[in-house]
Amino acid sequence: MFLELAYSSKAVPNLCDKDIQAIQSTSSKWNVKNDISGCLIFHKQYFVGILVGNERIVRGLFLDLASDLRHTDITLLAKENTPWRQFDNWNMIFQVGSNKTKFLPTGKLYKNNIIGLAQIVEKRTYTSRIFWNSVIELMNDKSA
Ligand SMILES: Cc1cc2nc3c(=O)[nH]c(=O)nc-3n(C[C@H](O)[C@H](O)[C@H](O)COP(=O)(O)O)c2cc1C
Repeated sequence: MFLELAYSSKAVPNLCDKDIQAIQSTSSKWNVKNDISGCLIFHKQYFVGILVGNERIVRGLFLDLASDLRHTDITLLAKENTPWRQFDNWNMIFQVGSNKTKFLPTGKLYKNNIIGLAQIVEKRTYTSRIFWNSVIELMNDKSA
């Protein structure tokens, strides 16, 4: 069995490119080593993430994440045990519309691509539906 866990949070106001890159590089190394897959979306000042893997490891990682000073308002959106792994081979950060960050494209087309992806990607569980719905909401939220 795998644990799937979706969460959202708000980046601290001074979070910059380097912080995002640091999160990405720590996460991709650690997650591969610990057989965790998932997806992290960063749009303007908000994160929406999903983690999939061994139950004990995902719980431990989420506790670590929750005490990370680079974000606040950490909210557990949904979690469930699943017999199959979703987000196999996924380990990425999408980032849209931040003027402070330049290493990924920004703008309407990119935003629409993320929304398109969120709409078509297979969602076999409640938790993944909540995750992708939150991504769509975040992309469409004018204030975010
Ligand atoms: C939004 C967000 C998502 C993160 N996702 C992961 C992740 O998937 N895997 C990971 O190892 N660290 C992730 N981190 C970093 C962890 O919070 C933490 O820095 C890392 O586990 C190293 O912990 P340590 O500094 O106590 O050694 C994330 C941080 C933030 C702010």
